[in-house]
Amino acid sequence: MSPHQHSPTPAAGVERALAHCAELTRISSLEGAIERVHLSPEHKIANALAAAWMQEVGLETWQDEAGNQCGRLEGPEPGSPALVLGSHLDTVTDAGAFDGMLGVMLAIEVVDRIRHSGRALPFALEVIGFSDEEGTRFGNALLGSRAFAGEWDDAWWDLDDRKGVTVRQAARTFGLDPAAIGGAARRPDDLVGYLETHIEQGPHLIDADRPLAVVSSIAGARRFALTVTGRAGHAGGTPYARRRDALVGASEIIVEIERIAKRTGTVATVGRVRAFPGGVNVVPGVARFSLDLRAEFDADRDAAFDEIEDFARRVCAERGLAWEAEEFYRADAVVCDPVLRDAVADGIRATGDPDPMVMWSRAGHDGMAVAAVTGFAMLFLRCGNDGISHHPDEIVSSADVAAALDAFEAAVLAVADGYRAR
Ligand code: GLV
Ligand code: MN
Ligand code: MN
Repeated sequence: MSPHQHSPTPAAGVERALAHCAELTRISSLEGAIERVHLSPEHKIANALAAAWMQEVGLETWQDEAGNQCGRLEGPEPGSPALVLGSHLDTVTDAGAFDGMLGVMLAIEVVDRIRHSGRALPFALEVIGFSDEEGTRFGNALLGSRAFAGEWDDAWWDLDDRKGVTVRQAARTFGLDPAAIGGAARRPDDLVGYLETHIEQGPHLIDADRPLAVVSSIAGARRFALTVTGRAGHAGGTPYARRRDALVGASEIIVEIERIAKRTGTVATVGRVRAFPGGVNVVPGVARFSLDLRAEFDADRDAAFDEIEDFARRVCAERGLAWEAEEFYRADAVVCDPVLRDAVADGIRATGDPDPMVMWSRAGHDGMAVAAVTGFAMLFLRCGNDGISHHPDEIVSSADVAAALDAFEAAVLAVADGYRAR
C-alpha cells in the first residue's frame, strides 16, 4: 500500500488505530482469548502486521535482533538521532486489546499526521513495538527493551518457559541469532529520547474525570518465587499437632502480605499458588507461590519485602516449615526525563487541559529498561470499566483515544521545538 493512501483526518487516525488493535486480538495462541508471548509464532505474525502498518505511513521497517519491530522516518540527514515512539506488542494471558498495542498504533498515527502536515522535524522519528514487556513466557520481563538499551544479560538465554523451552531455543526457532543480540543495542548518541502512550491500567483518571495524565515515574517492582516446605502426610491419619502443612503456612503468609502492603503504601500480588503433591487427601508438603511487589520508591518496596520475610520466617518456625525466597525479576523505579515529561505536559495542554494531571505508574513499562540508554516520558490515557486491565474487559473510548493522539502529536512537536532551541 502506498504511504499516501492514509487519510490524515483525525477521526480516521483514531479509527485506524482502534481497528489495528482489534485486528491484533485475533493473533493469539488461545482459542477465544488473547495471549501473544515473546518469540512465539503469534509474535512473528504481529510483527509482520505492525511492519505493514508502519510501511503504510512511510516508515522503513526492520525486526531487530531481539524481536522488536522497528520503523524509521529519516531525519534531516541520514543517521540523524531519533525520537523513538512506541510500546509493546506482547500480552499477558487472557489479555485485553489495548495494553501495549494501542501505544504502538498511536505512534504509527503520529508519524502519519506529521508526514501529512509537511512539518520537518530536526530528528528522525522511529516507531517500536517492543517484544516482551510482560514477561509472560519467560518470567523475566522487558527482554526486548533491555536488549534495545544494551542491558542484555547472557544468563537470560537459559530462562525457560513452562514447557522447558529456553530463550535461546525460542530465539533460534523464531529465526533470531542469539550471538547477534548486541545488534539490538542502541547508542545514546543515536537517540533523542523515548515517548510512550499507554492506557493507565487503573482507575485514577476515571476518578479524576480526566482523559489524560503525564507520568512522573514508574514503580519499582520485584518478583519472587516463594516456597514453603513442610511434610506431606495422610489427610485423615495425621493429627494436627503433628502436621507440617505447607499450604496453611503459605496462606497465613499470603494474608499478611496484603496487610503489610496496605499499611506501607506498596502494592503486593500473589498471582500464582500451587500445592504439592496436590492430592485431595494429602496434607500439602510443599507450597509454591509468586509475589509481585511494587512501590513508587524502591526503599519502600524493599522495606516491605523485609517485613514479609520476617513474618514468613516466624510463621514457618512456629509451624515447623522451611522458607525459601528466590528473586527472579527486579526493576528499580525510574523517573521520567524532565524535559520529555514537560513536552508530554505541553502535549496535554494543547488538547485544552491547562493543568495536566501527573501520576506515577503502578504498572511496569518498557521505559524502565529504555531509561538505561535514553530519557523517556509517558502519556497515560483513561481506560474504562473501572480501569480494568490485564483482562479481556479492557476498554477505551474513541474520544479519549482522539485526545491521546492529539496530545502525543503535540508532545512530539514540543520535543522538536526544544531540540531546535538547544
Ligand atoms: C506489566 O504490565 C506489569 O506491570 O506487570
Ligand atoms: Mn501489561
Ligand atoms: Mn503494557
